Amino acid sequence: MSRRRQIYEGKAKILYEGPEPGTIIQYFKDDATAFDNKKKGTINGKGVINNRVSEHIFTLLGHIGIPSHFIRRLNMREQLVKQVEIVPIEVIVRNVAAGSLSKRLGIEEGTPLPHTLLEYCYKDDALGDPLVAEEHIACFGWATQEEMQDISAMAIRINDFMAGMFAGIGIKLVDFKLEFGRLFDGDFSRIILADEISPDGCRLWDIETNEKLDKDRFRRDLGGEAEAYQEVARRMGLFPEGGISEVLDLDSERKKRGK
Ligand code: TMP
Ligand code: ASP
Repeated sequence: MSRRRQIYEGKAKILYEGPEPGTIIQYFKDDATAFDNKKKGTINGKGVINNRVSEHIFTLLGHIGIPSHFIRRLNMREQLVKQVEIVPIEVIVRNVAAGSLSKRLGIEEGTPLPHTLLEYCYKDDALGDPLVAEEHIACFGWATQEEMQDISAMAIRINDFMAGMFAGIGIKLVDFKLEFGRLFDGDFSRIILADEISPDGCRLWDIETNEKLDKDRFRRDLGGEAEAYQEVARRMGLFPEGGISEVLDLDSERKKRGK
């Protein structure tokens, strides 16, 4: 890791310069934060699982024509991605009321929404990523109207695909967050999916019991967060049967040796 130039360290990932111009390496940490960094902790093995989960989802999305920054997974905690200019908007996609929507509008958590709701937050930690309207995005030039059309159309397709995929493994996709970036080709740029899709940025509930299988276990001090992430990966069939613990043991072994 230290051989490479670090570009940026975020709350859950570190970005390093990639091997070729225009590429970046995303390193997935076990660090977890919530409530704009006010709550900090670690979830054992989270980075390894998120790397795999995100690889899997981005690859499947690629098969249905959603362009993304993902190139390939490099190892347990790293993936190679295309360098993009991140659009400073977090796109929240909701199927069921939960979290800040429930709080803000007094709608009971778990209430299914009559149709998929898209919300936009301006990415600014100091401001606490405030909810904004499309008018704000246009007014302040954070994204053009054409870009927002691409973003919202992709977000809906991603939701349709993911909701079906998770339903197939007994998981309700309550809501999730997406980030997009601009991929430049000379003077032109196009919008592609970026960042990651993992239990860090999704609400995933067991379809039968509504048990939470995502970062809300950490946010709300419910315990069992590492096991919940593993359960999602297990149901997705991402590790050989019974192999998650082996992979995580190998990872902690390597970490101890400082590799
Ligand atoms: P919220 O209910 O707190 O607004 O969160 C909606 C979804 O977006 C939830 O699945 C968690 C995800 N999310 C992030 O990934 N990062 C964030 O900074 C926020 C606020 C939400
Ligand atoms: N990731 C954000 C934070 O660190 C918000 C969240 O996921 O709750 O505060």
